[in-house]
Amino acid sequence: MKKIMLVFGTRPEAIKMCPLVNELKKRDCFDIKVCVTGQHKEMLQQVLEVFSIIPDFNLEIMKEKQTLFDVTTNILDGIRPVLEDCKPDIVLVHGDTTTTFATSLACFYLGIKIGHVEAGLRTSNIYSPFPEEYNRRAVSLVSSYNFAPTELSKNNLLKEGYSSASIYVVGNTAIDALKTTISPDYSHPILEWGEGSKLILITAHRRENLGIPMENMFKAIKRVLDEHKDVRAVYPIHMNPIVRDVATKIFGDDERMKMIEPLDVIDFHNFMKKSYLILTDSGGIQEEAPSLGKPVLVMRDMTERPEGIEAGTLKIVGTSEKKIYEEFSNLLLNKIEYNRMSHASNPYGDGFASKRIADILEKN
Ligand code: UD1
Ligand code: UDP
Repeated sequence: MKKIMLVFGTRPEAIKMCPLVNELKKRDCFDIKVCVTGQHKEMLQQVLEVFSIIPDFNLEIMKEKQTLFDVTTNILDGIRPVLEDCKPDIVLVHGDTTTTFATSLACFYLGIKIGHVEAGLRTSNIYSPFPEEYNRRAVSLVSSYNFAPTELSKNNLLKEGYSSASIYVVGNTAIDALKTTISPDYSHPILEWGEGSKLILITAHRRENLGIPMENMFKAIKRVLDEHKDVRAVYPIHMNPIVRDVATKIFGDDERMKMIEPLDVIDFHNFMKKSYLILTDSGGIQEEAPSLGKPVLVMRDMTERPEGIEAGTLKIVGTSEKKIYEEFSNLLLNKIEYNRMSHASNPYGDGFASKRIADILEKN
């Protein structure tokens, strides 16, 4: 029986790995172990509960305002005995977090095969997003199975010289999750509060945006809120205290802005579906929004998800206050542009990515 360990540690990895855990566990040919690093704590727990997954191992590494050094070294130290005792045949990691990088490095040191889910995303700049672009490239160096979400991500890997035999285009497991979370009957008191207004959904957390860029984002949003009385905003705020300080300073107690705790993924996906538009620097939200037909203003300078730009749903608006203010205002006033961006399209597959990955692991 093939022993497969899935390792993840943050909210977005969990959202995209849990559907795969449950698919693999259905099959008798696998012995499945789940190890969470605990890079996130509460935000990880929320996802595990939604998918009813109890990890076999939890490294519990999170601490307040952790640095990249903290996360990397604590994972390396913590995961070594787990891997040495458990001896998995294959370890599956996801995407581009420091959990992903440190786990793949540990597997490389121990000679354990790696499968990389969501492989082949690239920007042209190793510093953006930071440190994720480095992380994902480093994992590619040592991974035996590259599960690329799209042809475009496959081509990125081929261009870097990786063997086509190691690359499988499977779609994105985010769509697998979306299929199970969206419900037409969904309701929530905050959505009732937003009825009759243009309800904007906001998230922001990127490490390279902490400080001035994040202040710029929030000032731009605040200006638009002040000028457009028909707009209300919901901001499920990341638990990073550095983010929280800036948001509290700039939004204060604006009565048309609800700053709330992170939503669980069922709530969040349904909030996306019911919102008018989304402002974010998140990666995962850029993948989910095209399927839901929700315009997204991406508060970053570049994206590794050009599929969403191609689909017309995403627009990169950078991190300057002026540009975000102008693009946000324009999208509220320009109905033609709004309608153009609101068409649902799905560049990320049919929601069977987990099944495909499991089939491949069964045969290879
Ligand atoms: C991490 C990932 C990023 C991913 C993001 C998803 C890295 C370097 N960064 O960034 O790629 O996009 O997760 O959200 O891997 N915190 C809590 N409770 C939680 C989670 C976080 O209190 O459940 C606080 C802690 O103070 C922690 C801080 O947030 O120190 C930052 O967490 P960290 O994982 O280092 O960075 P993220 O910005 O979340
Ligand atoms: N998300 C969530 N609750 C929230 C905000 C986001 O469940 O309050 C989900 C969202 O749908 C997406 C993922 O979390 O699947 C994105 O996580 P995040 O933005 O933290 O990380 P990134 O995708 O940028 O790595």
